[in-house]
Amino acid sequence: MSNEILQIKKLSKNYRLSGSFGRASKDFVHAVEDISLEIIEGETLGIVGESGCGKSTLGRMIVRLEEPTNGSIIFEGRDLAKESNRALRSIRKRLQMIFQDPYASLNPRRQIGKIVEEPLRIHGFKKAERRAIALDLLNKVGLDENSYEKYPHEFSGGQRQRVVIARALALKPRLVVADEPVSALDVSIQAQVLNLFKDIQKELGLTYIFIAHDLGVVRHVSDRIAVMYLGKIVELASADDLYAHPSHPYTQALLSANPRMDTNDKSERIILKGDIPNPINRPAGCAFNPRCPKVQDICRTQSPELIQVAGRKVSCHFPD
Ligand SMILES: Nc1ncnc2c1ncn2[C@@H]1O[C@H](COP(=O)(O)OP(=O)(O)OP(=O)(O)O)[C@@H](O)[C@H]1O
Ligand SMILES: [Mg+2]
Repeated sequence: MSNEILQIKKLSKNYRLSGSFGRASKDFVHAVEDISLEIIEGETLGIVGESGCGKSTLGRMIVRLEEPTNGSIIFEGRDLAKESNRALRSIRKRLQMIFQDPYASLNPRRQIGKIVEEPLRIHGFKKAERRAIALDLLNKVGLDENSYEKYPHEFSGGQRQRVVIARALALKPRLVVADEPVSALDVSIQAQVLNLFKDIQKELGLTYIFIAHDLGVVRHVSDRIAVMYLGKIVELASADDLYAHPSHPYTQALLSANPRMDTNDKSERIILKGDIPNPINRPAGCAFNPRCPKVQDICRTQSPELIQVAGRKVSCHFPD
């Protein structure tokens, strides 16, 4: 028996660019390209990659805030990509998303307790029950009972993100997609909130998809890590393997550019040449080829498949 909680099959998202004079253009942004991925129940899957590589688009499709262009998302035996809005409403209880900015995601005019209760209200919970659940959740995320009556501006950034987490947990989700959930917080607060994520996972048996551009943050929380480049996964491995032996040249460059990663590492920093290529015109062959230090002729013409290589998946013609 497999214990996959979610299966993503050949998922893609294209955005059509707006052209001149209000007409639709013929050009598309290929934000996510043909991604297939399984998420295992109870794990934290980290997703990393440079800005614009499609991490948020992938996360938003998984909770169906974004409609996929192609592909399927199998959750509890149903394809979320094909479900109606009505069916999605009940499925969404078990799929929650947490965003980067706790300031933007909390209504400044509502009391914290009411904010946490909001999803319960939408799903028809009675007042007394809502209040009891909200108080319990506030307690779980380390906020005291008095927080219930307070307003968002009375809290620090870290506390606000705790409120966001409490709200996301209200309907007892099974899977939480967290998109850069600590990026807006002070470094000193980040560790506390990351530990809260871990404690809650242990207590409630949650599965996380954890998106971040900071490799230190994803390493801290992830069991497995998917590295994305221009809308595709280029490497997928256990966190330990990925950091100990990055196989894809892009992963190697990402790790070497992050000095906080491994203080004993004497290897040279690999500097990536060139800008991130444009997702409107993906380079032919391997999308990473214009910046790859190991590029060969085949890389300019043939796109490598994501294949199993020694306990991990890599898409490179010349993996290490
Ligand atoms: N609604 C949209 N319309 C057009 N293009 C979009 C839209 N949303 C995202 N894109 C484009 O899709 C690509 C992927 O964007 P996405 O936000 O998923 O990247 P990301 O990896 O989350 O980046 P970041 O690290 O900056 O958050 C980018 O080129 C972006 O400009
Ligand atoms: Mg993003």
